[in-house]
Amino acid sequence: MQLQKNISLKPFHSFACEENASFFTTVKTKDELMEALNWAKENKQAYLILGSGTNILFTKQFEGLVIKMELTGIQKVQESASEVLLQVGAGENWTHFVSYCVQKSWGGLENLSLIPGTVGAAPIQNIGAYGVEVGEHIVSVNAYDTVTKNWLSFTKDACAFGYRDSIFKKEANRYIVSAVQFKLSKQPILRTDYGAIKAVLHERGISNPSVESIANAVIYIRSSKLPDPKKIGNAGSFFKNPMITKTQYDQLIVQFPSLIAFPINDNAYKIAAGWLIEACGWKGVIQEQVGCYKDQALVIVNYGAKKGKTIFDFSEAIIQSVQTKFGVVLEREVNIV
Ligand code: EPU
Repeated sequence: MQLQKNISLKPFHSFACEENASFFTTVKTKDELMEALNWAKENKQAYLILGSGTNILFTKQFEGLVIKMELTGIQKVQESASEVLLQVGAGENWTHFVSYCVQKSWGGLENLSLIPGTVGAAPIQNIGAYGVEVGEHIVSVNAYDTVTKNWLSFTKDACAFGYRDSIFKKEANRYIVSAVQFKLSKQPILRTDYGAIKAVLHERGISNPSVESIANAVIYIRSSKLPDPKKIGNAGSFFKNPMITKTQYDQLIVQFPSLIAFPINDNAYKIAAGWLIEACGWKGVIQEQVGCYKDQALVIVNYGAKKGKTIFDFSEAIIQSVQTKFGVVLEREVNIV
């Protein structure tokens, strides 16, 4: 095992703050993962599993071992005339995997094109965009249970997927995802219901879309609305869209008739956090080199702050003002360390 000491985490997370880790290693196999976990145990060090660091904010030095997951590989497990079953290593780059499927016209993940991150992180927060959540296309997830010290295979039901949620997130740090199995379709039902996708297809004169034309539309929409983490530090949506009760909704909509909300069931609404934050006047605001992105208020951007704590404090100020104005408490989507 190659161990690095007192290393800067700046290149390993998309907020690119200058926080350090006392120890750092990368693992390419399950055996290397075991070796790293054993080393942490023997040396009484905490550990942290890192993918490509696109949904994490380090607010201080990490006292322990950072284990960067680099288990890669895309394997075809089964194929029929209509479907294909793939097993993919946790460390594969998500965008690379989606484009691989799009090139083969295997449908299901095209709406999730260009989401930064790794395949292993996708089921943890059940990544979602433009009307699709990754859990819909997952058959099972392989993970190591650090409590019982067993390798497990979670069926889709056992993953307990919800909005930006899963068993792996609920029981944070218990399971380490090593591989994910996806079922994709050769005759997919394409999801074009999301307004922005419909508009791009219409603009391009595409009435009979393909897996590829949807992926291209999504790539276009994301590139025009969201900052590229390779150019400006960010981790996509910093907050989740909050869920409120119908009673709360009925009160808010009277006071704020332009509030954007979607009914989830008879008693719950999901409201657009981006709208709430914009309505509090944050969109485009920059303080101490941290900003609320000008084109999408849900995204916090780092224009050069060195300390993760500065970004955290900025997010705290947003939470406070949304709570004061609307009585709604925003929850962070990004993992804070
Ligand atoms: N809105 C505003 N102001 C803003 C941003 C949004 O009023 O500054 C309004 C929009 O006009 C729209 C509504 O809020 O009516 C929803 O906006 P959008 O379609 O941009 O989606 P979102 O709810 O803000 C979610 C995901 C994104 C995903 C998009 C597209 C969460 C936390 N975020 O954002 O995911 O790309 O939908 O499906 O659910 C991510 O998780 O990192 C991410 C980027």
